[in-house]
Amino acid sequence: MHLLDDLNRRLADLRSQGATRSRRVIETGCAAHLRVDGRTLVGFASNDYLGLASHPALREALAEGAAKYGAGSGGSHLLGGHAESHAMLEDALAAFCGGFVDHARALFFSTGYMANLAVISALAGPDATIYSDALNHASLIDGMRLSRATVRVFAHADLDALDAMLRADADRYASARTEAGAHAGTNANAPVRLIVTDTVFSMDGDIAPLAALLRLAETHRAWLVVDDAHGFGVLGREGRGALDAAGLRSDHLIYVGTLGKAAGVAGAFVVAHPSVIEWLVQRARTYIFTTASPPAVAHAVLASLALIRGDEGERRRRHLRHLIGRTRALLARTRWRAVASTTAVQPLIIGSNAATLAVASALDADGLWVPAIRPPTVPAGTSRLRISLSADHSDDDLDRLERSLVAASAAPLAA
Ligand SMILES: Cc1ncc(COP(=O)(O)O)c(C=O)c1O
Repeated sequence: MHLLDDLNRRLADLRSQGATRSRRVIETGCAAHLRVDGRTLVGFASNDYLGLASHPALREALAEGAAKYGAGSGGSHLLGGHAESHAMLEDALAAFCGGFVDHARALFFSTGYMANLAVISALAGPDATIYSDALNHASLIDGMRLSRATVRVFAHADLDALDAMLRADADRYASARTEAGAHAGTNANAPVRLIVTDTVFSMDGDIAPLAALLRLAETHRAWLVVDDAHGFGVLGREGRGALDAAGLRSDHLIYVGTLGKAAGVAGAFVVAHPSVIEWLVQRARTYIFTTASPPAVAHAVLASLALIRGDEGERRRRHLRHLIGRTRALLARTRWRAVASTTAVQPLIIGSNAATLAVASALDADGLWVPAIRPPTVPAGTSRLRISLSADHSDDDLDRLERSLVAASAAPLAA
């Protein structure tokens, strides 16, 4: 019994710290207005930024894909599971997001988590060094652990700190490169350096200084891996993502986008120079050793891409920008600290777990679902509400959020 006693004690510890999480059962599809556990709520919890997850065209495309390709892929991409829709989607994604490199290619993954593990662990081995922003997503961090590379964490968006780290390692890298050069024609390789960052930080909503990061990557002969999970579909021309928005071009860039957030379906992709993609096909374990996702999913993502880049996507992005502007103004009226975010992720930092949970439950009582984000997802003492906006939200929804937040901010319970 004492294995279970130990686990139960640890669960009790989590409960006493207000750190347990629970799942809510959603009876309707993902949308701004949801039936959750028998109640109707306005949801500010999803990453469905363009409100496409329940779009009729995507429902139809998923059904059409299933009718055409069946339910499952039947195998891994390298062993019989690579469908026509996967190949078509990769071509479409490379054409859409690949403007940052010549001859871009794309590789489709089942999830963003797997794409991040793939890129980092396939490119960086034990003799590599990875420079990682302190607020990077867990999937990037797990990729670094899997790679067994040396990891140097720089303070969030702190370019001086990163520059100092790269310089401190420069001599060691220069001599290792010279040595590798002297063994040209043998198997000796120059050691790899990777700078890794979220574009839009998932719990803060701010955007990484991508142009400056790329300058450092080029100066120090490093790859720059950007995880645009929260930018793809929303930022850039026609929603092409954060690299397009920043106007960057370089074959040092490796782009990861996800398809379960603004694109409203599921999956993820990497876009990069063809040699990088070929290396991932040969070496990325989360690509090779897993069943390919259902071809119908890729078929539905193709329909989503058409919406994203068309007039409807443009209209939805415009409405989202309007909602972001309104939310920033309303957050400034509360007693808590808003983050300087210009994206659909609008956090309100409350501080302690208990106070954050109290505010979230006051909003819930008013029929608003705004998740309380606590450590270890965010640093201790910075528990927060993460208000996630969708183009499906109406001005009325924001009026309700405003009334409820302003009232909670004036109430004594939320210290
Ligand atoms: C920044 C970031 N990267 C990667 C992921 C993982 O993507 P996926 O949900 O497709 O696994 C997420 C969230 O889920 C994320 O927020």
